[in-house]
Amino acid sequence: MTKSEELFEKAKTLMPGGVNSPVRAFQPYPFFTERAKGSRLFDVDGKEYIDYCLAYGPLILGHTYPKIIDAVAAQLENGSLFGTPTEQEVELAELICNVVPSAEMVRLVSTGGEATMSAIRAARGYTGEKKILKFEGCYHGAHDYVLVKAGSGATTFGMPTSLGIPEETARNTIVVPFNYAEKFEKAVKENKDDLAAVIVEPVIGNIGLVLPKTGFLETLRELTENYGIVLIFDEVITGFRLALGGAQEYYGVTPDLTTLGKVLGGGFPIAAFAGKEEIMKMIAPAGKVYQAGTYSGNPVSVVAALATLKFLRDSGKDFYAKMEKNCEAIITPLKKTVRDCNLKVQVNNLASMFQLFFTETPVCDYATVKTSDTNKFMKYHKKLLEKGVFIPPSQFETCFLSAAHSNDDLNTTAACVISALQK
Ligand SMILES: Cc1ncc(COP(=O)(O)O)c(C=O)c1O
Repeated sequence: MTKSEELFEKAKTLMPGGVNSPVRAFQPYPFFTERAKGSRLFDVDGKEYIDYCLAYGPLILGHTYPKIIDAVAAQLENGSLFGTPTEQEVELAELICNVVPSAEMVRLVSTGGEATMSAIRAARGYTGEKKILKFEGCYHGAHDYVLVKAGSGATTFGMPTSLGIPEETARNTIVVPFNYAEKFEKAVKENKDDLAAVIVEPVIGNIGLVLPKTGFLETLRELTENYGIVLIFDEVITGFRLALGGAQEYYGVTPDLTTLGKVLGGGFPIAAFAGKEEIMKMIAPAGKVYQAGTYSGNPVSVVAALATLKFLRDSGKDFYAKMEKNCEAIITPLKKTVRDCNLKVQVNNLASMFQLFFTETPVCDYATVKTSDTNKFMKYHKKLLEKGVFIPPSQFETCFLSAAHSNDDLNTTAACVISALQK
């Protein structure tokens, strides 16, 4: 028995499913990590993995990036939590407002789920309406209003709509398929008098990777604007990853509110929601929408976020161009193999994200993602793991690259992916 196996057996008696977040558990047992550096994870049994999960997206500069670790170490000497405002929070808020197109004001929170929950409340407070509209397969965190037809672990474990959510709550969440402008328009027209917000992952990263069709995001913007509905882009994954200004910069569509997380903290727990001043001014204590958190804007996460964002800002567009090129080093040979061997596999990729699907149907929404053979995916995952490559253990997640992945890492990975696919 490996040490990971032993730990998993014990963990299952102490924590539900042996883990603290569902997707971390996979069969027969997950490896337990001891430490990480750059592009690598090292487990408790002495095995090493090239990491394309990157903690589900945050670590765009790789594990233990020196500038982030140094900033955090220096902050720890000065204190880890004050419960008072700090100068660094102001600097971070200003930086976010400078680089994210929709951000005129920002509130820092601790997790992406908290950010979406608060943004939805702000939209309700602002409009005085109660319904929200979300898209099938988008995941916005583990809270009641958005855990309806949700992706990520909720889909992986066959519970896209969770038990424990009151029917009267779910009734206020309208769900529409992603990428169907006409269906969206119909739902908006039917509910226009009650809709507070439309929330969307502009690029879905929680059912594998699903890209918006040309014009789809523009339609969301146009209709929400026409009907006075708050448009929320959930950029917890795409923020600072697709471009410095996220998907809204990449696609040139500006929402009213934006939620941010993951890359923002460079591996430390911090998230944010930001947007139009007239909506953000509704938030307490400036306004009457209550929102609060003991750890909000905690100084350790704030300096990690500052180190991350300053690095990304100072690196400019070259950084994102290089990340995209690095992703191509895996994707180009992979697509060639799929073509040459006539494999029933779809490959979706964008910037430094990619995922493949075991289906002959092009993947553009929840329904087409669900045509994928998840057993084959888990076999593929296992083969890669044996070869020392770690991808997220679910068809309904996305692979991420970091700046720490070397050319050697990328070439090794391409060869492993091709060999795993052929097997
Ligand atoms: C798009 C999106 N929104 C919100 C969340 C929730 O973030 P957190 O897990 O930090 O609560 C996630 C998490 O994966 C996400 O991918």
